[in-house]
Amino acid sequence: MQYSSSQIHFLSLFLLLIIVPSYFSFPLGHNHNPEEPPVLDHHQKTYTGHNFLRPYPTILRTSRRELITASASSKVVFNVHDFGAQANGGDDTKAFRNAWKKACSNSEGKTVELVVPKNRNYHIKPITFSGPCKSQVTFKIYGTIKASPFLLDYERDSSHWIMFENLQNFKVEGAGTGIINGNGRKWWENSCKVNESLPCTSAPTAVTFYQCNNLDVANLRFQNAQRMHLTFQKCALVKVLNLIITAPGNSPNTDGIHVTETQDIRINSCRIRTGDDCISIVSGSRNVQASDITCGPGHGISIGSLGAENSEAQVSDVVVSRANLIGTTNGLRIKTWQGGSGYAKNIRFENVLMHNVTNPIIIDQHYCDQEKPCQDQASAVKVSGVVYQNVKGTSASKVAVNFDCSERFGCQEILVQDVNIVPLNDEGITTASCQNVGLRDRGIVSPKCSSQK
Ligand SMILES: *[C@@H]1O[C@H](CO)[C@@H](O)[C@H](O)[C@H]1NC(C)=O
Ligand SMILES: *[C@@H]1O[C@H](CO)[C@@H](O)[C@H](O)[C@H]1NC(C)=O
Repeated sequence: MQYSSSQIHFLSLFLLLIIVPSYFSFPLGHNHNPEEPPVLDHHQKTYTGHNFLRPYPTILRTSRRELITASASSKVVFNVHDFGAQANGGDDTKAFRNAWKKACSNSEGKTVELVVPKNRNYHIKPITFSGPCKSQVTFKIYGTIKASPFLLDYERDSSHWIMFENLQNFKVEGAGTGIINGNGRKWWENSCKVNESLPCTSAPTAVTFYQCNNLDVANLRFQNAQRMHLTFQKCALVKVLNLIITAPGNSPNTDGIHVTETQDIRINSCRIRTGDDCISIVSGSRNVQASDITCGPGHGISIGSLGAENSEAQVSDVVVSRANLIGTTNGLRIKTWQGGSGYAKNIRFENVLMHNVTNPIIIDQHYCDQEKPCQDQASAVKVSGVVYQNVKGTSASKVAVNFDCSERFGCQEILVQDVNIVPLNDEGITTASCQNVGLRDRGIVSPKCSSQK
């Protein structure tokens, strides 16, 4: 049997496909067809895989393009339109559910795409997209997905709108045009934080990722969540890239990105303007990196709250770098309730710019966000190993640095280096308030704690 040169080319590519898959985590095909035109989706090229921990070896880099080309031919595409989604103002939930069922159970391709078309506005009631799936699925949102505004639609589970659960190697990709809109106005009006005569009830988080591994969320807009916009819970190996999250500055509890019980998550290049925390990182989270983040309005970047209701909390290895905080009520905040236990440790804030921030640097170990006042309690979530490096900007209040640490444990090993926060209006000075803090400073630090324990 004779082989043409193109057959030999593909034979060698085929061998390569057999040899290297264990090394690459992006989709690889088996039924690659030489007739198939190369399909190079730049998003696919950019955001495939989770090899950020392990750079591609140079010697294999030239073959990457071919591998992706080959994988395209084993891609199966489903479109919600083909399942009856109309985008005409009616309820599209059933079509999305059926499309997901087909996409998730498909095993014909190595990768499966579920497409939400561009320039369409789909209306969705609470929905859960469950795995595990038979293939690697990408949810491609080119159009808009909008939440039902009717509170009765959430009767069965009032704390989630869109839920993705038990998924591996899963991607949600918005291609820059995709929008997820929580349509939250009714929920805000019914919040006890807005209208004190109303009882406090829960509202849905717009999008929850629960128990997802190897997850990418990229190039997508989130708007007007009922409560939090985006929650990662019990997930690992997560990449979040290029999100724009917006809600009114006075919308209650509309955190941008909430990270809970999640390890190895990287959040990069996000713009977040909401009514609550920009990014909040709570118990069970480890190895969290957030970089190139712009926040404001909102409550700033927060670790905690931790230790509510005497609970045990653990947060460690957090790096926030290259953040811009504009007009937020807090800048870099660690907040713990009295009576908790556990720790928040090894936390680094670096290269942060602030403008018009009310509490630029704050550790609050007496946090209390409930109707009746909190009791004094001896135990606390221990805070240690926190670095503030190269933090500059303006404070809207006089106290620009506030370490309010517990009497019993104090805050340990806090390093402040090259920090300069001046008053917003060029009037007077900023001050530092420091209770029970083990502190070192390096370089130029202003304001400085006057007496340090
Ligand atoms: C607050 O809620 C009460 C009770 O439902 C209602 O009568 C009142 O109009 C609400 N106030 C505002 C400002 O919406
Ligand atoms: C500071 O932030 C507050 C609250 O967001 C805003 O109302 C005010 O206009 C801002 N001032 C300046 C000078 O940016």
